[in-house]
Amino acid sequence: TLGATLAAPAGGARVLAAPALAAPLVSFPQGFVWGCSTSAYQIEGAVAEDGRGPSVWDTFSHSYGRIANGDNGDTACDHYHRYAEDVALMARAGMKAYRFSIAWPRVMPQGTGAVNAKGLDFYDRLTDSLLARGIEPWPCLYHWDLPQALQDKGGWLNRDIAGWFTDYALAVTAKLGDRAKRWAMLNEPSVVAIFGHGTGGHAPGITGRLNCLKAIHHQNLAQGTALAALRAAGGAKNWQLGTVLALQPSWPVGGLDSNYPASLMWDALWNRSCLDPLFKGRYPEQLAADFAGIAKPGDLATIKQPVDFLGVNYYSRMHQQVDPQGLFGTGYGSAPEGTRRTGMEWPVEPDGLTEILVELQESYGNPPVYIAENGADYPDTVGPGGRVQDDDRIAYLRGHILAARNAIDEGCNVKGYMVWTLLDNFEWAEGYRRRFGLVQVDRKTMARTPKASYDWYANVVRNNGVPA
Ligand code: NOJ
Repeated sequence: TLGATLAAPAGGARVLAAPALAAPLVSFPQGFVWGCSTSAYQIEGAVAEDGRGPSVWDTFSHSYGRIANGDNGDTACDHYHRYAEDVALMARAGMKAYRFSIAWPRVMPQGTGAVNAKGLDFYDRLTDSLLARGIEPWPCLYHWDLPQALQDKGGWLNRDIAGWFTDYALAVTAKLGDRAKRWAMLNEPSVVAIFGHGTGGHAPGITGRLNCLKAIHHQNLAQGTALAALRAAGGAKNWQLGTVLALQPSWPVGGLDSNYPASLMWDALWNRSCLDPLFKGRYPEQLAADFAGIAKPGDLATIKQPVDFLGVNYYSRMHQQVDPQGLFGTGYGSAPEGTRRTGMEWPVEPDGLTEILVELQESYGNPPVYIAENGADYPDTVGPGGRVQDDDRIAYLRGHILAARNAIDEGCNVKGYMVWTLLDNFEWAEGYRRRFGLVQVDRKTMARTPKASYDWYANVVRNNGVPA
């Protein structure tokens, strides 16, 4: 526990005298990986450059009324042209790892077939520039920007996508895999399924219970097929293969027994419909009959693949209650009274992170875990001299880093932490009004200005720990 950490004898391994900070530190195991995460559509811009094809998010964000303020990712943070500056920002903070995503429509504008060399070259330059700065590249193969051409063939509702995705994964790793060693397959498949194919607030804007479950299954299948193919292709290249899931404990609103089944159903959908087939080769009980109508014989064996790491994205718990209108008979309710909230009204519940990590330890074989996303949006008032003194973000990050430390003390296999995110960027249906960055981006000039949280995080990285 944290108490035990602080009570370690003076001079003990966990209490360090920090040169940059007056306070003592809660420190992390040696070699703990500190970094940050981004995704292609949220930061790159340059959507029509060098042969990139359209993605479902281009289509969606250009459809009237889909995104707050009518925003889109056409320019985003212009990272496509400013990546060197962004890598320098990471280097200056001492970051050891950078998780970014590869835009499938840059690499294969039609989704399948010919590789667009110019598109792949961008990631080649990015990889080299990271390595030159001593930052380990952690590419993720899919962070939601499906080629529109594949959507036109059914996208995640068409089981052929397992093959399309695997061909794409092989093409990318063949080019970058001599230098990039950590490969994440998908980012948050349950979110793509629930928001993109169930409730429709994300691209491609499809709705319905069956569509949602098909999108989950076909992502699981694509992930399994690609993992197996890369495992075979990797040979002596020493690749570490994994995937990234959104994991958030689901609690019954008000602690009521009557909401308990709803919270279990939501847990089955959001968390376990991705975790269970990967680690246990089966779907959770609540949804097993539904998935039995979608899966074909052999699918579960394809999905259950060994992974070298699991990426966990954590933001808050989810508080669920009975809702007959909900696709799964469930709906969102409030967190316990008195819970603090972020700008997006997400409850601030750092102990939910410990809870998830302990659950992975107890029920999923304690896989090596990297927290692949954690962070918060706040309105970020700009102070004198253009400074954002984002103490609320610092408190959020510190609380969650301590929660990860608590899980390590419990024996959880947590090996790294990546902040979401480096830059204020395109927050999907919320557009640019939500800011999760350590660094502000001026929407007119694209100038980058580090916030107080950036300096704070740089000290965390430097000291391998947070102020106690
Ligand atoms: C999860 C997603 O992976 C990322 O794209 C998003 O911006 C953050 N959460 C914040 O909502």
